[in-house]
Amino acid sequence: MATPQSTREEEEAAALHALTSQYRQLVPPQTLHFPPPHLLSQEHFQDAIYHALFSPSTSPDTIPPQRYTARVLKALVAEIEASNPDEINSSLLSLYSTFPSSSAPPPTSRVPVTYTLPAPYPSITLHETPSLISGLGTTGLRTWEAALALSEYLLLHPPHGQRVLELGAGTGVVALVAARCGAEDVLATDGDEGVCDVLRENVGRNGLGGRVRVEQRQWGGKRDVPEDVQLVVGADVTYDAEAILWLVAELSFLLQENRECKVIIAATIRNEDTFQVFRDSCAEAKLALVESVYTLPEPRVFWYVPRAEIRLVEVSMMEK
Ligand SMILES: C[S@@+](CC[C@H](N)C(=O)[O-])C[C@H]1O[C@@H](n2cnc3c(N)ncnc32)[C@H](O)[C@@H]1O
Repeated sequence: MATPQSTREEEEAAALHALTSQYRQLVPPQTLHFPPPHLLSQEHFQDAIYHALFSPSTSPDTIPPQRYTARVLKALVAEIEASNPDEINSSLLSLYSTFPSSSAPPPTSRVPVTYTLPAPYPSITLHETPSLISGLGTTGLRTWEAALALSEYLLLHPPHGQRVLELGAGTGVVALVAARCGAEDVLATDGDEGVCDVLRENVGRNGLGGRVRVEQRQWGGKRDVPEDVQLVVGADVTYDAEAILWLVAELSFLLQENRECKVIIAATIRNEDTFQVFRDSCAEAKLALVESVYTLPEPRVFWYVPRAEIRLVEVSMMEK
């Protein structure tokens, strides 16, 4: 039976949205989820892909690096060829033949990465340094998977009208998502001065300077509490056994000063022993943990494949 027209259009729109979101998020070409062959084989659908991803009218601020685009284009053309198409779209082909070789050196500087949020929220574009640990010796210049998980959690549980504090904010995706989905005020903090500079730029770039403030804050250092914080969040901040001790000191201080506030930490469990240090330090500081394994939402919001289990951990003061 033929597919009804509207259903087919919806399927095409959803597949195009998924591919565009992945491309703008710089998902590695080898892990891209491409649209199914029955769509890819259609010339009009290939044309839609060309316009959504590669057309020169794309906003210059969100264009991925050339090397990445070349690799995606190569993978896309291979997928189209494998889909047994009647035709290959001429714009895609001509771009493919004129595009610089993907053997160009990898970018060493920051690149724009765009996170597509579900309607009605506008997307977020961050400048990130794609390497795992930047040449500057910090882990805060790229977005980690736990931050995407925590952002998805916030989209499902929007902090409407709340005052939010983020610890170890890195590039700022969690803080910016919190602001996008209704937080009244967000204080995004990180201990690293260079990370805070990039974070400030990322906040400004997304026009959220009025609602997201950036402050350098070392865990266990400052003894002031940001006013009336109702939600404290932190993503991928439990990766280092030594830093965990300071983090727990910070959480303990914040909770003692403000027992009502909720604390949610998204932890990537790369090493159970390190996470156990977090558990033990919390127990020693009389902090209770409620842990849940994070499962990716369906349909997907952000595009990533967690390399290790992610746990959402709610931290509170133990009952006396
Ligand atoms: C793995 S990154 C996570 C960044 C971001 N939350 C994310 O998930 O994409 C850890 C962040 O914690 C910050 N950090 C590490 N130790 C810290 C400390 N003692 N005080 C404050 N920030 C710290 C780092 O500068 C870095 O930005």
